[in-house]
Amino acid sequence: MPHPLAEALLEWYAREGRDLPWRRTRDPYAILVAEVMSQQTRLETVVPYYRRWMARFPTLEALAAAEEEQVLRLWEGLGYYRRARYLHQTARQVVAGGGELPQSEADLRRLPGVGAYTAAAMAAFAFNADTLALDGNLQRVLSRLIDLEVDPRSPEGERRLREAGEALLPPGRASAFNQALMDLGALVCMPARPNCGACPVRAFCLAFARGTQAQRPVRPASRPLPERRRVSAVIWRRGRVLIGRRPPDKLLGGLWEFPGGKVDEGEALEAALRRELREELGLEVDLEGEVGVFRHAYTHYRLVAHVYRARLRNGRPQPHAHTALRWARPDELGEFPMGKVDRAIARRVAAGSG
Ligand code: ADE
Repeated sequence: MPHPLAEALLEWYAREGRDLPWRRTRDPYAILVAEVMSQQTRLETVVPYYRRWMARFPTLEALAAAEEEQVLRLWEGLGYYRRARYLHQTARQVVAGGGELPQSEADLRRLPGVGAYTAAAMAAFAFNADTLALDGNLQRVLSRLIDLEVDPRSPEGERRLREAGEALLPPGRASAFNQALMDLGALVCMPARPNCGACPVRAFCLAFARGTQAQRPVRPASRPLPERRRVSAVIWRRGRVLIGRRPPDKLLGGLWEFPGGKVDEGEALEAALRRELREELGLEVDLEGEVGVFRHAYTHYRLVAHVYRARLRNGRPQPHAHTALRWARPDELGEFPMGKVDRAIARRVAAGSG
């Protein structure tokens, strides 16, 4: 017999669970794509990307055969591009080794970029393993159910959540049980203002009984993100602008950017830009005014990019810091995969104000 909490939860899930496209399949490849896309990304955002991806790369073989640039282009806008490159590597590795994704959590974890959560989700959703896929939603929901008074990401917190979750998991129903907890976390047991009145398991919830929902999960004190300043140039020559492809081992590797780089402590912006263009491309330029200031918050820092319009004084760009350089027409910039900030600059250029 399932635990009464699990029973109430599964009954609610059958009625209220979300109809997500990857819940209609047991294809391990489709589930891997969905789970990797869903990391750090809202599901409303993921669904159209998932559909486009599966239409273009319906199988592991199709993905393995694709060019990296196509793969990155289809991922653009989802962020954390390393995930796309890991999926691509996984496809190539598995296809080269005979074509089947492994089934056990331990073997799944050896795939490029597959961590504890993704391996558990794959094992539970595709292979029906009785395992807990402890994502942010489960951390929050379980922290409230057992009124966990320590950080759920601490070793002790994780151990206690796993114990509680595994004790509740009905054997053979891990797929529905995990996804029911995820949906409960997304639809009812939200981070701020959980809707306890609509909760199917509030009779079992210790935080609800004690009125501590707002204090769970316990969060370590957060620090403000550091700011990193960057300078970039839109360098024009005969109606085209210069872009470079970032090396694969760097952040945003494989994506295209407008050349530039970090501003050193205390360095003037224009001096930093001239220095970077000299170091990375061997170029001297005339700066012709500002295109604008572009901002984006990454996980570990906030980027502020000061962008200038520039014209070549002399020299030919050398790829000292890029794997490729290209003079692109403004209307073809959309074909090159880019990160958020460079895409915003490219749009400005294509709109005629770069
Ligand atoms: N978040 C990540 N994967 C999910 C899934 N399969 N269902 C609900 N939320 C999710």
